[in-house]
Amino acid sequence: MTSFWSGYIIVLTTITIIGTVLLLFGNRNRPADSQAKTGHVYDGIEEYDNPLPAWWLYLFVATIVFAIGYLVAYPGFGSFKGVLGWSGVGQWENEVADAKRRYEPVFAAWRDQPIAGIAADPKAVRMGQRIFANECSQCHGADARGAQGFPNLTDQDWIWGGDADTIHTTIVNGRVAAMPPWGDALGEEGVRNVARYVQSLSDPQAAGAQAAAGAAQYAMFCVACHGPEGKGNPMLGAPNLSDTVWLYGGDLATIEQTLRAGRNGQMPAFGQTLDADKIRLVAAYVYSLSQ
Ligand code: HEC
Ligand code: HEC
Repeated sequence: MTSFWSGYIIVLTTITIIGTVLLLFGNRNRPADSQAKTGHVYDGIEEYDNPLPAWWLYLFVATIVFAIGYLVAYPGFGSFKGVLGWSGVGQWENEVADAKRRYEPVFAAWRDQPIAGIAADPKAVRMGQRIFANECSQCHGADARGAQGFPNLTDQDWIWGGDADTIHTTIVNGRVAAMPPWGDALGEEGVRNVARYVQSLSDPQAAGAQAAAGAAQYAMFCVACHGPEGKGNPMLGAPNLSDTVWLYGGDLATIEQTLRAGRNGQMPAFGQTLDADKIRLVAAYVYSLSQ
C-alpha cells in the first residue's frame, strides 16, 4: 500500500469514529423524562422524543472501544501492522508448518517404498484418494473415469503408460499431447476417407471402399505416431486407434473433427505444486484403480 492510500484510510477511519461518537452524544441532549414529543401522530397516538435506552447506548460505546482496540492490536489502520504483529499470511504459514510437522511421520512411513508397494496398503490408498479428490477430480472425475478429452484412469487402456513409474512421471512432469491438424494436408474428402479407415481399425463394419481409399493416406501421414496397425505409441502419447476406447470419441463426426483440427490434450505438471510424498500417494491410488 502506498503511503497516500495508507494516510487516506487512516484519515477516513478516524473521521468515521469521531463522527460516530459526536453523532451519538450530540443527540443526548434531553433528560429521560422530558416528555418532549416528536410531533408524529399515528391513529391518535403521539410519539415521545425520548433519548436512547442506556443499555443500547453503552453497547454502542462498547463497539467503538472494541473498534479502537482492534485497530491497535491488528492490521487495519492504514499500513500500521498492529501491536500483535498478526498477519493472514503469517497465520497460514504457521498452520502449514504445523500440519507438515504433524503429518511428517505419517508420510515418512511410505517414503522408501516403491509405488506398487504403497498401492497395496489400504490406508495409503485412502489418503491418495483424498488427494485425488482435491487435485485431480475436476478433470478426471470423482470416480477417475474421465470424460471426453480426459482419460479414464480405472481401465487397462493407457495413453502414456500404466506402470507405476510412468504414472508417477506423468503426474510430476505433466504431459502435452500433440496431434497435428490434418485438414489442409488431407482435404475434406481425405478427412472423410481417413476417418472411415480409422473407424475400420476397431469396427469391421466401417470397412469398405471409403476406408480403403483412406488407407494410403493413413500410411503416409499417421503411421509415424499411431503405428502401421494403429496401436499407438506411448512415448508420444499417441492413442491406440484399434481398440474401442476413445479419448475424444469414435463416432465419425468426432474423428473427422480430430483429424481436421488436431488435438492438444494437456495434463498439468504437479512436480512444483504438490509435495513429493503426496504425489507418490496419489500415484499409488491411481495405480491401484486398474490393478
Ligand atoms: C506427430 C504424431 C501424430 C501424427 C503424425 C498423427 N497423430 Fe493422431 N494423435 C497423436 C496424439 C499425440 C494424439 C492424442 C491427442 C491428445 O491426447 O490430445 C492423437 C490423437 C488422435 C485421435 C484421437 C483418438 C481418440 O481416442 O479420441 C485420432 C482419431 C487420431 N489421432 C488419428 C490420426 C490420424 C488419422 C492421423 C494421420 C492423418 C494422425 N492421427 C496423425 C499424434 C499423432
Ligand atoms: C486440468 C485438468 C487435469 C487435472 C487437474 C489433472 N489431469 Fe491428469 N490428465 C489430463 C488430461 C487432459 C490428460 C490426457 C493428456 C493427453 O491428451 O494425453 C491427463 C492424463 C493423465 C494420466 C495419463 C493417462 C494415460 O492414459 O496415460 C494420468 C495418470 C493422470 N492424468 C493422472 C492425474 C492425476 C493423478 C491428477 C491429480 C494429481 C491429474 N491427472 C490431474 C487433465 C488433468
